[in-house]
Amino acid sequence: MDGNGRWAEERGLPRAAGHRHGAENLGSILECAGSLGIQVLTLYAFSSDNWRRPRAEVEGLMELFRHYLRSEARRCRRRGLRLQVIGRRDRLPAALLRAVEWAEWITRRQRRLLVRLAIDYSARWAICSVAAGAGGDGFSAPAFRQALARVIHSDPVRDPDLIVRTGGEQRLSDFLLWESAYSELVFSPCMFPDFGPEQLRSVVAEFGRRRRRFGGLDGTAPAAESDVSHRTDKPCGPGSNAGSIGVGSRQAVETKRLDREP
Ligand code: FPP
Repeated sequence: MDGNGRWAEERGLPRAAGHRHGAENLGSILECAGSLGIQVLTLYAFSSDNWRRPRAEVEGLMELFRHYLRSEARRCRRRGLRLQVIGRRDRLPAALLRAVEWAEWITRRQRRLLVRLAIDYSARWAICSVAAGAGGDGFSAPAFRQALARVIHSDPVRDPDLIVRTGGEQRLSDFLLWESAYSELVFSPCMFPDFGPEQLRSVVAEFGRRRRRFGGLDGTAPAAESDVSHRTDKPCGPGSNAGSIGVGSRQAVETKRLDREP
């Protein structure tokens, strides 16, 4: 969700106004994603490197996330959207953490669309965390994948088919580095506050025109992964690569029971 700051600066507004407009944009994007049949949508809201921004901007963003979860979680539940926040949790402000756990709890049964908000997310940190706990033999690719989902507090979901970056930059910036091995990439010049349903439909149409081969020839499907908990003899070798695990097919992270509002 890049380009909020530039969008605001171009209009002589403070950067915070760009973030607010970005947040206001989300409702129509989520609705459109659900109607397009997208099952999992991961939104990169705050990278672990974003802590290096000025303190006022960081605090404003944390408060915006808290407010968003607090005010939108019930609406998400009514629309069949399940919310999950992926990334580190040990550095989040306490009030935001409470809002995260509450929003996850009250939307936990929804299955139309899984919306993952990446906050204090770093793909490198997640990979290193899993590797640090790997022990002598390392992991098979499926077990690695499951451990990776666990450290970022996510259900094990399919690899993303499509990654879209708004704001004109063409890089991944520490986002889903493992999971994006075969993702299609689209870089949109549109600043995030201007990115709406029309732009989403357009990038999905672009995705539909791509020919995917997953390392094989035309028509090759992604390598299958029948059992994420199965440990193979060949860690990370050919054929052990992960394929698809349906949303909600396996609960990796226990949602904290939280009946009271934050
Ligand atoms: C990057 O744009 C954007 C962010 C660091 C914040 C993303 C947050 C939102 C879109 C707010 C809504 C999100 C939720 C979950 C409520 P930038 O500030 O780097 O823009 P720039 O590249 O133009 O400076």
